[in-house]
Amino acid sequence: MTTASAPGKIILFGEHAVVSGVTALGGAIDLRAKVTVQDLSGSVLIKTKELTLQGFSLDLTSGRLESAQAAHATRYISAVLREFDVKDIQVCIDSSLPLAAGLGSSACIVVAAVAAISAHHGLCLSLREIAEISYRLEKKVQQGLGSPMDTALATYGGYLQISQDIKPIDLPPLEMVVGYTKMPHDTKSEVEKVQDLKKRYFDLVDPIFQAIGALSEKAVPLIREHNHADLGRLMNVNHGLLMALGVSSRELDELVYAATGAGGAFGAKLTGAGGGGCMIALPGHAGVDALMVALRQARGVPFKVVTGCEGVRLEGDL
Ligand code: PMV
Repeated sequence: MTTASAPGKIILFGEHAVVSGVTALGGAIDLRAKVTVQDLSGSVLIKTKELTLQGFSLDLTSGRLESAQAAHATRYISAVLREFDVKDIQVCIDSSLPLAAGLGSSACIVVAAVAAISAHHGLCLSLREIAEISYRLEKKVQQGLGSPMDTALATYGGYLQISQDIKPIDLPPLEMVVGYTKMPHDTKSEVEKVQDLKKRYFDLVDPIFQAIGALSEKAVPLIREHNHADLGRLMNVNHGLLMALGVSSRELDELVYAATGAGGAFGAKLTGAGGGGCMIALPGHAGVDALMVALRQARGVPFKVVTGCEGVRLEGDL
């Protein structure tokens, strides 16, 4: 039996602009997906314990599926099994991340599955190989545009600045609060919407992308210097620019206003593709608990996260 785990992520600055090669800044978080594989003769079975709080199992041999939600995760696991030409196996997923919420749930499942399945079959892949295979598989399943942000963060952990290439940056951890709208989002359609806007109004959208890229750069020294008041201001600016691109929603905006209003956050913004999913807030002087209460009152599901956490790791043979 072999187990690997990989972290989810938040995008601190730069979503959407990164698709056009502009700098973004993301951090791995302390919520992880764990994938365990073991030999199972004559069958290919995929099981989950805690995905969107509903367990399911899928027998690929018989095609029996116990939940519609399952289709999402199993598409990724099936792609990894095909990549390594693996049969006679049981794959168990144990994830503490909500699906389709912008926290990189599919990337960490792919990355943990690539690490666990390759190690189980005696392959010793480098982190770079795990990141490259995972990005290729995730992109294939999603059939869309997309940056390597999620799979890179799930692999390397820490903080990454992503533009044309992937650059790890050493920064202190940040305690943030995530507010989940409970509305799933569709990354592909949000990305297509923004790219279409850019195509039609390049002279308007390109400066917005450039401003977002500048925010991703300016945030780095602020995080290093623990200047949370200014960092929060930049988050608010980034949220405004994402609203201008049309990827926020009423639910996301309500959580952002609740966070910076009653919640006393230094700043807040949507994270990920938008249209639903999650926002993030940087706790202010009122503290984390006041922020959590404000987000709950605005009908969000708040949870604390710490950024800059460890990337994929083998949990060892159990
Ligand atoms: O929704 P998520 O977490 O997959 O974030 C997508 C981030 C985008 O910049 C919109 C797309 C990408 O691939 O970088």
